[in-house]
Amino acid sequence: GGEGDPLLRLDAEFDDEINREAELILARREITATLDELAALGSEARYRAVDFRDRDAALQAVKEIHADHGRLDGVVFAAGVIEDRLIAEKTPESFQRVYGTKTAGAATLLAALEELPGGPAFAVLFGSISAVLGNRGQADYAAANDALESLGADWAERTGNRALTVHWGPWAPTGGHTGMVSPELGREYARRGVELIDPDEGTAALLRELAWGEESVRAVVYTASGW
Ligand SMILES: NC(=O)c1ccc[n+]([C@@H]2O[C@H](COP(=O)([O-])OP(=O)(O)OC[C@H]3O[C@@H](n4cnc5c(N)ncnc54)[C@H](OP(=O)(O)O)[C@@H]3O)[C@@H](O)[C@H]2O)c1
Repeated sequence: GGEGDPLLRLDAEFDDEINREAELILARREITATLDELAALGSEARYRAVDFRDRDAALQAVKEIHADHGRLDGVVFAAGVIEDRLIAEKTPESFQRVYGTKTAGAATLLAALEELPGGPAFAVLFGSISAVLGNRGQADYAAANDALESLGADWAERTGNRALTVHWGPWAPTGGHTGMVSPELGREYARRGVELIDPDEGTAALLRELAWGEESVRAVVYTASGW
């Protein structure tokens, strides 16, 4: 059939639905596997899904977690979405999804932490190397990651707590998790000689930074390429 063929359109919608469903199943599997792995190591971990664009739900979640444990020692904010497209092809809605998920999400989290009696020892915000170097198709994402740094710094100044934005270079996929570096993007990085961060090394780097890094530093860049 031609372009207007309703059967073809149905087919495409069906494909989208299958993709979404498959992604959900894979995400659920990844969560279960991670929780099992942590339990086997003796960690008590709990999983809870909250949409951080929903301010009330996020505030409530932070309050409940604090109430359950009587404390909240540290937070890592790693929420984000990408919808890469050149500026000319971006819609305001798409920009807002990418920019707002990071910036409004982080602002909500930091505001919620401010309401707790006694803030956490640290708030880590996951930024990206794109905030530092820029990246084709990622104007919204780059701006969002750059803004994280200011949000964290302002909060640190207001509360006296430690805020650290980590601008990561691309991570290598682990097991089932490719994250924001799709196989195509991974190949593109390899072609340009950009090395991927080994996940164990990346985790160790963050822990080292928290343990021994200068506490007044508000942002660091971690890459495997040594730029
Ligand atoms: N992978 C890399 O190489 C790389 C490099 C630099 C920076 N980073 C940063 O590292 C973080 C994790 O990246 P990733 O590669 O692991 O990507 P990912 O697999 O896409 O993870 C992003 C996470 O954000 C969550 N999220 C999205 N919108 C949200 C919202 N409104 N409220 C709460 N959570 C939300 C997603 O949850 P759902 O799946 O449930 O929606 C998902 O768990 C991101 O902040 C990214 O910018 C990654």
